[in-house]
Amino acid sequence: MLPLTRRYFLKSSTLLTTNLALTGVHGLIPKPAWGAKNEFLQASCGIEKQAVKKVLIAYASMHGSTGEVADVLAKDLCAAGASVDIRLVGNVKDLSPYQAVVVGSAIRSDRWLPEANEFVAAHRSILSNIPTAYFLTCLTLAKPSAEIQSRVQSFLNPVREEVPEIKPVSAGLFAGVLDYNSYGTTIKAVMKYKMWTKGIEAGDYRDWGAIHAWADQLKSAFLSA
Ligand SMILES: Cc1cc2nc3c(=O)[nH]c(=O)nc-3n(C[C@H](O)[C@H](O)[C@H](O)COP(=O)(O)O)c2cc1C
Repeated sequence: MLPLTRRYFLKSSTLLTTNLALTGVHGLIPKPAWGAKNEFLQASCGIEKQAVKKVLIAYASMHGSTGEVADVLAKDLCAAGASVDIRLVGNVKDLSPYQAVVVGSAIRSDRWLPEANEFVAAHRSILSNIPTAYFLTCLTLAKPSAEIQSRVQSFLNPVREEVPEIKPVSAGLFAGVLDYNSYGTTIKAVMKYKMWTKGIEAGDYRDWGAIHAWADQLKSAFLSA
């Protein structure tokens, strides 16, 4: 039997904490049902062959639902013959393995999360030389109209202006999720008030038909050549 020393105890708790952190936040987590909170999916699909196009879907998210959009896009691209990695933007250092990149983010304060902008700026030279697409998820589109659609287009203006040399082949604009169970006390109170003023109820507003349709556009843009 192992002696229960202080060193042994510290080592075991460090291992347990690391393990929980990896499986809970950065592991290959199965797709959570709506309502499962703050899980950030990272996964890969498709066959790794040299002839196959390798695509990266890099995303930024506050509470995890944007990762599920990335997952659906990835599965469609893999079904069409690509090999796809889904990663949080902060976990991608090297773009050299990829022939095409999709960058997506949840919207906060009517723009991408800062880490998505930073990712694009940091990789500007490679992204301006390979097919790159942008997408966003937001709640402004929970009540869509032509006017809203054009307002939401403008949520990408900051990144377009900051990195003008990247000309995205397409921009996917998607409604997101309003799940108060995912939020801490302050965000919950702010969001409740904000959404009340807009008449938006809690719910999953993601339009999977629109997301699949955009994946079809990506297939033509990324995989046809
Ligand atoms: C703190 C906070 C701020 C938000 N700000 C905006 C906003 O300015 N405009 C908007 O359309 N949606 C906004 N949203 C909605 C999110 O973009 C939407 O819920 C998205 O689906 C969240 O994706 P995630 O689960 O990947 O974080 C906000 C959500 C939160 C929690």
